Amino acid sequence: MKKTVLVSGGAGFIGSHVTVELIGAGYDVVVADNFSNCDRTCYEGVKKITGRQDLPLEVMDFCDAAAVKALFGKYKIDAVIHFAAFKAVGESVEKPLMYYKNNLMSFLNVLETAQEKGCNVLFSSSATVYGEPDAVPVTEATPRKPATSPYGNTKTMCEDILRDAVKASNGKLKGILLRYFNPIGAHPSALIGELPRGVPNNLVPFITQTAIGKRECLNIFGNDYPTPDGTCQRDFIDIVDLARAHVYAVTRMIEGKMLEPCEVFNVGTGRPLSVMELVNAFEKVNGVKVPHKFAPRRAGDITAIWADPTKANTQMGWKATRTIEETLKAAWAWECHLAGK
Ligand code: UFG
Repeated sequence: MKKTVLVSGGAGFIGSHVTVELIGAGYDVVVADNFSNCDRTCYEGVKKITGRQDLPLEVMDFCDAAAVKALFGKYKIDAVIHFAAFKAVGESVEKPLMYYKNNLMSFLNVLETAQEKGCNVLFSSSATVYGEPDAVPVTEATPRKPATSPYGNTKTMCEDILRDAVKASNGKLKGILLRYFNPIGAHPSALIGELPRGVPNNLVPFITQTAIGKRECLNIFGNDYPTPDGTCQRDFIDIVDLARAHVYAVTRMIEGKMLEPCEVFNVGTGRPLSVMELVNAFEKVNGVKVPHKFAPRRAGDITAIWADPTKANTQMGWKATRTIEETLKAAWAWECHLAGK
């Protein structure tokens, strides 16, 4: 019998790509979203890509405990992937209570109900939990560092909450924490991708918007870091590769193949790339110019971080496969699609 996965925040950037991959792998998916930080573009795109015009959509807020209970009553859910959360680092510094309330409350509601129903939980965590690491690449055993923003803090806190809940559940609740590095790109169909509201905070949407003429110039924040070319280094991972990691993780949970009741995996490529290298690669592969200039460092930025993905490669059998060229082509195709070009 087909298993059903609930994807909270399923209309967002990561959630929509994960939904496509889950459906492709034979799962039924229930998408739930309150559209607080996205519109219906990606949900409609997912339906087109998968041919699933009947894809269930629940418009709801996960901070509403009664609504979460009702949702789990309406569908027989085998696993839940929880994305529904606020994610802007800067905004979280200005509005910490809004971040704590939304990101913690929604996750607590999901966990409480999932535990009652004996359903597995996958939480979308972040490399932000490693802070500025003492050594790179980072493995899952690299100590976490205190978060530098309320947003980052909610990730660390939700990791702890899930671990504690699993521990106390006597096997009723199982969980996986996926720590994402820097997800970029878009689906090769160019029907779904990143849709930032207002001025993008993240690098790749800023690059694509500059290349298409929506922004005048990309600021490269800092060229005096102790890295080979002076700009920060990241582990940029293709969004489709990242989405596929969720299929492996969910399958592992549902098929009872976990080695521990609460597992953690880095989801990265293991390949560091500097901001400057990324900009150069984008220009080269797409044959477009990205006007840019160096600007002062951005507060809170980490100098260099990339993953050691060995654990996910060996234990889950998942590996990132897309080249940076494929990823940057897809990012550009999506921007062009949005511009109607
Ligand atoms: N950058 C620029 N110019 C821009 C935007 C970004 O130079 O206009 C640089 C940043 O300074 C950084 C790199 O590009 O060096 C990557 O920046 P992003 O904002 O794209 O990504 P971050 O690594 O800062 O953020 C990611 C996730 C966050 C998470 C954070 C924690 O997007 O959700 O990692 O490490 F909190």
